[in-house]
This record gives sequence, C-alpha cells and structure tokens, in this order.
Amino acid sequence: MILIVDFGSQTTHLISRRLKDIGITSKIIDPEKLMVALNESSPAGIILSGGPASVYEKNAPSIDKRIFELNLPILGICYGWQLMTQLLGGNVESGKKEYGPTTLRVYDFHDLFYGAPDKFIVFESHGDTVVKLPAGFAIMASTPSVEYAAVGNKARKMYGVQFHPEVHDTRFGKQLLENFATRICGLGVKPVKLDLNSMVEEIKVKVDKNKVIGAFSGGTDSAVAGALVAKAIGRQFIPVYIDSGLMREETLGRIKDTFPKVLGIPVKIIHARKEFLQALNGVTDPEQKRKVIGKLYIDLFQAEAAKHKNVRFLLQGTTYADFIHSQGTKRSAHIKSHHNVGGLPKNLPFKLLEPLRYFYTDEVRKIGLKIGLPREVVFQQPFPGPGHAVRIIGEVTTDRLNKQVLADSIVLDEMQKAGQYTKVFQCWSIMTGINSTAVKGDGRFYGEIIAIRVVKSKDRMTADWARLPYNLLAKLSTRLVNEVPGISRVVYDITTKPPATMEWE
Ligand code: XMP
Repeated sequence: MILIVDFGSQTTHLISRRLKDIGITSKIIDPEKLMVALNESSPAGIILSGGPASVYEKNAPSIDKRIFELNLPILGICYGWQLMTQLLGGNVESGKKEYGPTTLRVYDFHDLFYGAPDKFIVFESHGDTVVKLPAGFAIMASTPSVEYAAVGNKARKMYGVQFHPEVHDTRFGKQLLENFATRICGLGVKPVKLDLNSMVEEIKVKVDKNKVIGAFSGGTDSAVAGALVAKAIGRQFIPVYIDSGLMREETLGRIKDTFPKVLGIPVKIIHARKEFLQALNGVTDPEQKRKVIGKLYIDLFQAEAAKHKNVRFLLQGTTYADFIHSQGTKRSAHIKSHHNVGGLPKNLPFKLLEPLRYFYTDEVRKIGLKIGLPREVVFQQPFPGPGHAVRIIGEVTTDRLNKQVLADSIVLDEMQKAGQYTKVFQCWSIMTGINSTAVKGDGRFYGEIIAIRVVKSKDRMTADWARLPYNLLAKLSTRLVNEVPGISRVVYDITTKPPATMEWE
C-alpha cells in the first residue's frame, strides 16, 4: 500500500486512480494525520501530492520532518516536492508561474524513468519553483524552463517531480508512478476488473424494498447509473426526465424512445423549459446560475417524488470527476459548483444513491457497454448538467437559448460530417455575450460573437484544444454567421486546461 498525502491538488485523486489501474492500493490522508497513519499501517512508500499553496504562505500545509528518517521511499509532486526541498534544506523561489504542456528531457533512465523515451510531454501547473536542491539530490530530467523538473536522492529513495505524472496529458506519467511503486517501493502490480454483479448486488441490498427516483439527464453517466439500478430493482425504480430546455436537441428523442427499451420501464417526462427560463431571468453570475438550476431540478424532483410512496433514494449519475470538481478533497480550491453535487439543498428528504461515485468516465463507459446500453449512448460526449446555460455567457433569454441550441446543433452536425465528433472529447458553441461590428448586406451590423470550443481529454482533469482541419473551421464559421440570426463573428478557443476550464462558466 502507498500513502498519498493530500495537499489539496485538483488531481490528488488521480494519483490514487492511476495506482488503482495497476492494482496498487493507496490511501489518501491529510498531512496532519501522516504520523498516525504511519503507525497504523505499514506503507511501502509515500507520495506527497501537489497543492494550491506556496511553501512561503502563512499556514501552508506541512508534514513532520521525521518521515525523511524512516528509510521509506518518498515521491514529492509539485507542492509536495517543493515542501520536501524546503524541509531538507534546499531553496524554493516564488512567482515563476507555469501552466500547461511542456517538453521534459530525461537524463537518467534508471528506476523512475525506466523505459521512458528521452523526451516527452508533461503537464505543469505551478507558481513556485525549486532553485537549489537539498543535499544528496541529482537532476534526472529538465524542461526548457525548469532545471529541476525531476530529481532523485537514490541512496535515500527520495524523488521529486515539478510536473504532474497523474494527469493523462503527461504522456509517460502512469508508467512513472508504476515505476515508483514497483521499482522503488518494491510492490507487485495486478490490474483490477470491474465486477458488474457485485455492483448490482450492492444496489439491491442498499435499496431493499424502497423506491428510487432517478435523476436522468440523458447523458452517459445518468444512463449508466439508471440502467444499473433498473437491472438491480426493476419497477422499484422511477426514472424521471426533467426537460429543462437547456439540453441538446436530440436528448428528448432519446429519452422517449431508446431509454424505455433499455430500461424495460417508461421514463416520466416533466416539461419545464418555461420554469427554467423564468428562474434564470436576470441571473448572470455563473455560480448563481448553477445553483438556481440545481435547486429547480430538485424542487421538481421532489414534487414528482411526492406523488409516489416509499421513495427513499434519489439516483444521481455523479462520477468521481464531478465530485472532485465540485467539492475536491479537504484542501483543494473550489473551482465551480457542478449542479449534480454542489447545488443540492441540505434538507433533502432522500438519501443519495450514487453508484458511479468512485468511477471515472472511461470506467463508466465500460460498465455501460457491459450492461448492454447502445454505443451512441455510452460514447456520446459528456454534457454539463446546467446545459446550455453555462455556455451562454450572461443572461439566458429565450432568444439567446434558441440561438445557442441552433449553433450547437450546427457544430455537432459539421463535426459528425467531417468524422471528427468521435475523435474529440467534447465540442460545442458558446454565446460569448460580446458584440462586435460586422457588415451584412451593405449596412453596419452589431451582433454577438460565437465561440467554438473543441477539446481532447481522457479524464476531464486536463484538456487540449483540438487541431481541427482549417476547412472544417471555415465551414463552421460560414454556417454559424449565416444560419444563426444576429451573429457577427466566430472565434475558436485555443486554451488548454489548465489554466482554462473546459466550460467558459
Ligand atoms: P470544467 O469546465 O470544469 O469541465 O473544466 C469539466 C467537465 O465537466 C463538465 N461540466 C459539468 N458537468 N455539471 C456536470 O454534470 C456541471 O455543472 C458541469 N460543469 C462542467 C464539462 O462539460 C466538462 O466535461
């Protein structure tokens, strides 16, 4: 087992996930619990995670220096490495911020980089940098701007990396963690298998004779969660779809036709576009939007649930990434409130049933296929719970929503025709809320700018913008300015995550 000390990075849980993939157990603990945890378990190694703090901040999280005397292998990542440096007598400098992809050049191919190529892409996200190594450490790899990007003190089995090996976009990251676990900590690997029967069994036992009302969104996560529950408890499950009008055009059709066939039970549809637009009237703050939508969802669910007896559980398709994004671990910075977790009122009369809470998107898809859902449902692009509302910057009016739905359908149509839809993680349009000048006919015209965002990603924690063919971008631009009324200009978003989140709000 490996202990992961959480200093609050958005991606601490991905370290655990990568280890889980290769069959290594890990436990995430807070820094102040480290000595107790060491007494209670005997880990083969320790990983110190990244985190948003600077080692120079007042109250910056720290650890007991005695862990460096235990002869245990230690890997520090980003903040974890900077903290190690400070505690072991090196120097950290503030203020040299770097975010996104960069090229790592490897000099030492033993242990940590065993089997690695001499150059590969890594993801960095840091504000401080190590400028003087503690005694006994040597450079193993550098990036163009960070000399000490990976270092090691082999005699004491201590290593530090400035980049994030746990994120998918660090190309060799999983292997690096595997090397740490196997070659340095001496653990064996054994990949874990998903066990559908035990998941279904768990739901049966938990629900017993009660009823579950389903929070269907039409997306993969809630479809897989719904199919699992339907398989486990059949008609004790009440699947409900709230038609907020904020979802993609094809979603309603799918809910009416495909879902009842797969689930073996009909889906109750509540038409509520008007109510959502009313609730969003005058709301421009992104967090407020998320909260308003989340609350209305729950109110409508509650009203529906009140019509049924014995409803004890509310099904949510919350995945691990949703959970981390909305709440994070104890120390991580709050980024945004995903409506399926953060917007729930505290006095909910249901218990939450979240069968996918500990799974990432790729695992959820595997479960979906195993359970027999059609590929177009399992491999559809993720769509945010608050839907088009977080893709319309500023107020969501009927007029702007209609334009967004149309623009989004044009983006999807052209992406599909060009064979690009399945090659990317997500693609969509954004009503930017910014106007610009144009010439239409022979007159001056002042109208809204539409942005297009197309991203490639594996686990949502990091993303890169898709290098789409120019002729596809040209087609999109022409269609959007011509077919969506009142549009003056089209721009393409070329920002990686981090620093930008995928959604604009
Ligand atoms: P961000 O914008 O946080 O998005 O980089 C990461 C992924 O999450 C989706 N997303 C949401 N999903 N409820 C959801 O269910 C939400 O409130 C929400 N906000 C963002 C986003 O589309 C991307 O896949």
